[in-house]
Amino acid sequence: MSSKIKAAITGVSGYLPEYVLTNSELEKMVDTTDEWITERTGVKERRILKEPGAGTSFMGTRAVQSLLEKTNTSPDEIDLLICATVTPDMPFPATANLIAADVKATNAFSYDISAACSGFLYALVTASQFISAGTFKKVVVVGADKMSSIIDYENRATCIIFGDGAGAVLLEPSTDSLGIQDFILRSDGRGVEFLNMPAGGSRKPASIETVNAKEHFVYQDGKSVFKEAVSKMADVSAEVMERNNLKGDDVDYLVPHQANKRIIDATARRMGVGDEKVMLNIQKYGNTTAATIPLCLWDYENKLHEGSNLILAAFGGGFTWGAVYVKWALDNKN
Ligand code: UT7
Repeated sequence: MSSKIKAAITGVSGYLPEYVLTNSELEKMVDTTDEWITERTGVKERRILKEPGAGTSFMGTRAVQSLLEKTNTSPDEIDLLICATVTPDMPFPATANLIAADVKATNAFSYDISAACSGFLYALVTASQFISAGTFKKVVVVGADKMSSIIDYENRATCIIFGDGAGAVLLEPSTDSLGIQDFILRSDGRGVEFLNMPAGGSRKPASIETVNAKEHFVYQDGKSVFKEAVSKMADVSAEVMERNNLKGDDVDYLVPHQANKRIIDATARRMGVGDEKVMLNIQKYGNTTAATIPLCLWDYENKLHEGSNLILAAFGGGFTWGAVYVKWALDNKN
């Protein structure tokens, strides 16, 4: 990216529902064990949004409200709010519209980005273009998913992985070259075969038949997705490092999408990054789809310093995947 203005992350926050769904509770729901889930995925527990009538915007709104408080930002200063999600409150209006209204961001326009587990990276990069072009000064990016709304809790292949949550970041222009340095984003719609939600869209609208056939839930061919994720997430991470002359030692943290600890470990190995420099919260929250990366940044914020080199990386439904090189702009003086 040649632009002189860079988009810096100047605040990060999140929201997690209170209810904790543990592996031992899942043992009572489906034929599985804590040992299998822990060994094969790394997940120990996940959060579930139980509030009646509350959708993804409920969590996104709370994440953005705490972000605005934390960064002393008035909602009317926000120019644009983008929400990455595959579990919108409704097919339309966009969940971003609902969040913007709830937080009273009355001067912002807002829209959703649908890129599944890579959604946060897609939204972050899209938002950063408005900042580096000099068009906007304050853009909020939310990654939020209520995965429990599209998961079949009788299917042990998927119900053990996913959870609910929301993360949000504020992007502002950087005066000293901190912020988003480079990115690689990719997609390949042929991945639809392996990871999708079959019904509820225009191709197969909801009907009694689709409900009975459980087609409003996530379908995943786990093994095929796993294979693609391992190679593609590592490929783009290595590529973005190479073209920015970064070696494993130069990377302060890998911030990976939290789908499976084994995919994360493989990516870190390929990058030459030690385990101690890998952000991990899959054990607590599972796979929250668009929320995993901002929730990691939120969890590890106090370990980061101004200038810390981060590689954000994701792979997910679509297929979509990507890696973003960020120079952290906040100094926590730790
Ligand atoms: O975030 C979006 C992108 N998604 C991903 O990146 C997910 C990628 N895939 C995965 O993480 C893994 O494929 C899973 C965690 C979904 C599954 O792990 P796996 O090691 O690939 O298991 P598998 O599907 O190959 O199944 C192995 C065995 C099977 O039994 P048999 O046929 O060998 O007898 C499954 O029936 O494990 C069985 N199995 C389970 N056993 C206990 C599948 N799920 C469970 C379970 N508990 N929950």
